[in-house]
Amino acid sequence: MGKKVILVTGASAGIGGACADRLAQAGWTVIGASRRGTSSGAWRGMTMNVDDDDSVSQGVADVLAEHGRIDAVLASAGWGLAGAAEQTSIGDAKAQFETNFWGAVRVVHAVLPILRRQGGGKIVLMSSIAGQIGIPYQAFYSASKFALEGYAESLAYEVEPFGVHVTLVEPGNFTTDFTMSRRTVQVPSDDPYETARDKAIVTMEGDEVHGADPRDVAKVVERVLGTAKPPRRASVGKAAERAGLIAKRLMPFALFERLARGGLGV
Ligand SMILES: NC(=O)c1ccc[n+]([C@@H]2O[C@H](COP(=O)([O-])OP(=O)(O)OC[C@H]3O[C@@H](n4cnc5c(N)ncnc54)[C@H](OP(=O)(O)O)[C@@H]3O)[C@@H](O)[C@H]2O)c1
Repeated sequence: MGKKVILVTGASAGIGGACADRLAQAGWTVIGASRRGTSSGAWRGMTMNVDDDDSVSQGVADVLAEHGRIDAVLASAGWGLAGAAEQTSIGDAKAQFETNFWGAVRVVHAVLPILRRQGGGKIVLMSSIAGQIGIPYQAFYSASKFALEGYAESLAYEVEPFGVHVTLVEPGNFTTDFTMSRRTVQVPSDDPYETARDKAIVTMEGDEVHGADPRDVAKVVERVLGTAKPPRRASVGKAAERAGLIAKRLMPFALFERLARGGLGV
């Protein structure tokens, strides 16, 4: 059999780009999808908007036509939305879900029948620590990642009999274009959330700007893809961030909330 083929969404920048580079170096045939369609010397770029049904189905059909198979998919396309939950319009909240949740679902819908017919494959979904811990002033970003987590858990039971493995990768804070691409919601002139929101946003942006290197996520993704039975979840990030995930699982929630407030900037 020739090289394994992987479709990576969100490959034009950040985590998806680092994953595409590392996987190409590790011997995968990588097709890196994004709206910009950027390519690199090591992998081919493809223009794909994960918000758009036709764009995703056409892109996946093109990969299959060119390579004859798809062995894995990494859904990393995403962006962030900041603002008080109360002040976030339904339109902005839906747009956030359109990419972060429905975008990943669209890609899985297009690729899964191919993986099943081939007798197996890997689905890796880029979640976040925010998919396990609700982040203040990023309610709909967190909600989109919580949705992805529930979807992936359910999907995993259904596709495991076909040899298809699903893994959620949960990064902490990483320095990428994510910070500069974050959209913020419009606020009214008499804004009761101003002080608290600004403090939380400064905290989150500082954590990202001083975050870890996205190549660390790529190492984890490569390991997941190389494991016969990969874990359902793989967290990656600074020790304190990963400790937060363990604390949430083990502590009474009221205690966890009390301890988390400082780190979350509230
Ligand atoms: N950075 C962090 O601290 C962090 C932490 C946890 C989780 N994550 C998750 O990691 C993933 C990647 O984020 P990142 O940090 O690498 O951000 P990034 O540097 O801004 O990269 C985002 C990527 O997503 C693509 N994208 C956005 N909307 C798209 C759409 N509608 N269709 C196709 N591609 C789209 C962008 O490409 P185009 O603009 O060319 O389309 C870009 O390649 C996201 O799912 C994010 O939620 C990031």
